[in-house]
This record gives sequence, structure tokens and C-alpha cells, in this order.
Amino acid sequence: MKNNTVLQLLEGKKLHQDIQISGWVKAYRSNRFIALNDGSTIHNIQCVVDFENTDEKILKQITTGAAIKVEGTLEESQGHGQSYEVVVKDVHILGAADPDEVKKTILQPKKHSLEKLREQAHLRVRTNTFGAVMRLRSQLSFAVHDYFRKNGFFYVNTPIITGSDAEGAGEMFKVTNHDLNNVPKNEDGKVDYKEDFFGKETNLTVSGQLEAETYALGLGKVYTFGPTFRAENSNTSRHLAEFWMIEPEVAFCDLDGNMDLAEDFIKYVLQYIVDHCQDDLEFLENRLLQEEKSKPEKDRSPMKLREKLDFVLANNFKRVSYTEAIDILKKSKPNKKKKFNYIIEEWGADLQSEHERYLVEKHFKCPVILFDYPADIKAFYMRLNEDEKTVRAMDILFPGIGEIVGGSQREERYDVLQSKMKELNIDQEELSWYLDTRKFGTCVHSGFGLGFERLVLFATGMTNIRDVIPYPRTPQNADF
Ligand code: 4AD
Ligand code: MG
Repeated sequence: MKNNTVLQLLEGKKLHQDIQISGWVKAYRSNRFIALNDGSTIHNIQCVVDFENTDEKILKQITTGAAIKVEGTLEESQGHGQSYEVVVKDVHILGAADPDEVKKTILQPKKHSLEKLREQAHLRVRTNTFGAVMRLRSQLSFAVHDYFRKNGFFYVNTPIITGSDAEGAGEMFKVTNHDLNNVPKNEDGKVDYKEDFFGKETNLTVSGQLEAETYALGLGKVYTFGPTFRAENSNTSRHLAEFWMIEPEVAFCDLDGNMDLAEDFIKYVLQYIVDHCQDDLEFLENRLLQEEKSKPEKDRSPMKLREKLDFVLANNFKRVSYTEAIDILKKSKPNKKKKFNYIIEEWGADLQSEHERYLVEKHFKCPVILFDYPADIKAFYMRLNEDEKTVRAMDILFPGIGEIVGGSQREERYDVLQSKMKELNIDQEELSWYLDTRKFGTCVHSGFGLGFERLVLFATGMTNIRDVIPYPRTPQNADF
């Protein structure tokens, strides 16, 4: 007989039928009631053991954390808290878990801090919180592919090892197979990359954008969804050294179209989890409420998790130019009272996350799309506006998160792009393939990058990005 899942059993369709289920013991009480979970849902199924007719040796091994297989029938439950339960005919211990050992781990059912759970990241997926987060993450990533497929996009896989640091999006990790204790050097004392694996200097990618652009200029609408690496020493609750980024790129699409796409996309994937993950969302909402009880009133979220999701779904993102945003910030209380760490003095200033969060959480109180940033604080590939001061960039800012999306209309004019690269000392030889796209049938095109973990943070109400990816990589930490 094949295993059923807890999720299937709780639907009740197998009522009065013989069933078999395998899972891990969450709790065992009164020598009779097993709460069993197999990861398919946040809910456990209660399995009622006929202890008088079960081998004592087996009963002893039904302990928290053990893997067991249960055979029995599905029946309506007499007890409170569940509609169905399994009346057990036979229990098999698949993998015992010594209670004395379990006690030393986070499997022991009691309240563990998120920090403690991070130290045992290999076990934390067995907790309710991480089960819920990881199921939700999986559903979200399915929704990402679903959205793009439904809208005529092609999925492209851009390289993870790259030969160009063209993007300038961040510090890069080097990729080499040089013996680091004995690196071949040139006469001038510098590392000889000709001797290295690829015959040139290579890094882990900070973005698939430039390659995605070349594919958009052939397939029309493409997206990437893959691992991305940044070696910045940003030890914050919003930064990972290894994260997943979604980067759509669209030919014949300007910045307005890009903003429409980003908003439509985000709403689709959030709607998807609202429709498909009610149980996990309910659990995570309550988790957040509990967590926030220990915070001062002013630091608590103004809305419950599902209210917040519904609010984002129901309202247009507010579109505001950088220039307007600077005006708002200059006149804001925290700026006047010098409460910001970085005081906004004049147009041209780069926005820090404190400014972004002020705009979203205090001023507009909804997601905000900022556009038309000063050229000087943005990347070389962004399309220059007529004013020759600003570029067609856009960032999407989310409550509690800050920047979730960064994107732009791309500079499609060969001459303008080339002179910008000259100005910034970007190697044109290295990027000749990128420049080529502006020579052979160039066109208006746009795209953006969305940090997947920041989206998962928002959707789950978790507050630290380390808690929404199975094994976080951050400065001084690459365990597991
Ligand atoms: O704004 P960024 O740097 O944009 C780019 O890389 C563009 N090439 C994207 C494009 O236009 N195709 O990064 C995009 C998003 C950010 O808005 C943020 O959500 C996320 O990636 N992100 C990070 N997420 C987690 N940890 C980090 N260290 C991140 N850096 C960026
Ligand atoms: Mg950015």
C-alpha cells in the first residue's frame, strides 16, 4: 500500500478506509495519542494507538522526533481539535530518536529562539515555523514561474560564473582553481589569470541582467530566476551573500510598462499564496502576533499578516519621482529634527533604507515605486532622460522591507551607452557583446530584479532574511 499524506487524510476522503502514513512524531501523550506530521501541511494527524495490544518495545520508541509508519483506518475523531484521526492497527519504527539526545536539540517541543533555530538549521525545518515558511517559499517560487509562463515569458538560465564585473552592482566573489598558497604571478607581481581555469579573471554573478538583455533581444520576453552572489559586508536582516533573484527583461517595453509588469507580477504571486497557503499564513500570522507582543506598541506592525497582504493586493502602488521624494524627505520631521542618520540636504543624495522606510511606512503607508533617479547614483546601463540628469530607473519599496525591486529602462542608444561607459571607465572590450546588441537591431527594452528572499520575508511576516532561506550565507557564516 502506498503512503498517504497528512494533507490527503485531513481532506477526509479516505474515511473508513485502510490507510498507511509515514511521518515524524511531534508528540505522544497518554501512551495512546500520536501527533504525526509528514511535512505536507502545518497540521498533524492524530493517530490513536491500541496500546494494550502493541508491543511494549515499540511503544517505548514512539518518541518526539522518531520516524514511524502507521497502518490503520481513517475515522471521524471523537476528540476536540481535529475532524479525523487514524485508528492504528500497526506501528513500525522507521528511525528512532533517543529522547535524551532530542532534549539537546530544537526538536524538543518548547519555545526556542529564532537564533537557536538558526544554529540547528538542519533540524529547524521540522518546526512549525520553518515548515510553514519553506512550504510558502516553494509555493511562491512556483507562482513566479506560473506568472511568467502565463504571460509569454521564456525562462533563461544565465551563467553563475561570469567573466565580467560589468554590472557594478556589488562586490564579487572570485572563482579560481589557482592553488591559493602558490598563485602564479606575472612579472609585475600581479596574479596571472592566464594560468587560471578560465584563462581570465572570473567571479560569481551579481546579476544575470546583462546576459538576460541579450536574450530579450531575440526571444522578446524572458526571465531569470537563480542564485546571485554579493560579497558586501552587510550584516543586516535584509542582506544575504547568496540570494535568489528574479529578473525579467522585455523588448519593446519602456519604464511605464516595466512598472506595470512589476506591480502585476508581485500582486499575482502574493494572490497565489493567499489562495493556496491559508493554513500556513494563519499560522505565521499568529506567530508574528506572538513575537510582536514583546515589542513596544510603536514597533508593532499596524496590520496583521493577511490584512497586509490583502491591502497590497487591493491598492495601487504609489508612483513617485525621485525629485518628489526628495522634497517630501527634506520637509519631513525626522529630517528637520535630524533624526535620520543621513540628513537629506539636497537633490542628488542617495536614499538610505531609513529614507525609503519613512516614505513607505510613515508618509505613503503603501508600496511605493520611485522612478527617475539621478544618473550619478545609478548604473551605467540605465536610459538617460531628456534632462540629461536623471535616468529611467525604478525601485519598488515595501513596508517593513525597504527595497524589494530595482530596475530600469535600458540605454538602447549605442552612442549614449558608449560615452557613458567611457565616462565611468568601463572596459568596452570586455563588454563588446553587450554593446553589439545596440548595433544590431537595438530597441527600447526594460527589466528589473526582485530579491526572492525579500519577497518571502514580506509574504511570511518573518523579520530576518536568514529565516527564509534554508541555509543562509552571510559574512563569517557558511555552515551546512
Ligand atoms: O537593485 P539590484 O542591485 O539590481 C540589479 O541587480 C539589477 N541588475 C536588476 C535588474 O534590473 N535586472 O538588486 C535587485 C534586487 C534588490 O531590489 C533586492 O530585492 C535584491 O535584489 N537584493 C538582495 N537581496 C538579498 N540580499 C542582498 N545582498 C541583495 N542585494 C540585492
Ligand atoms: Mg538596487
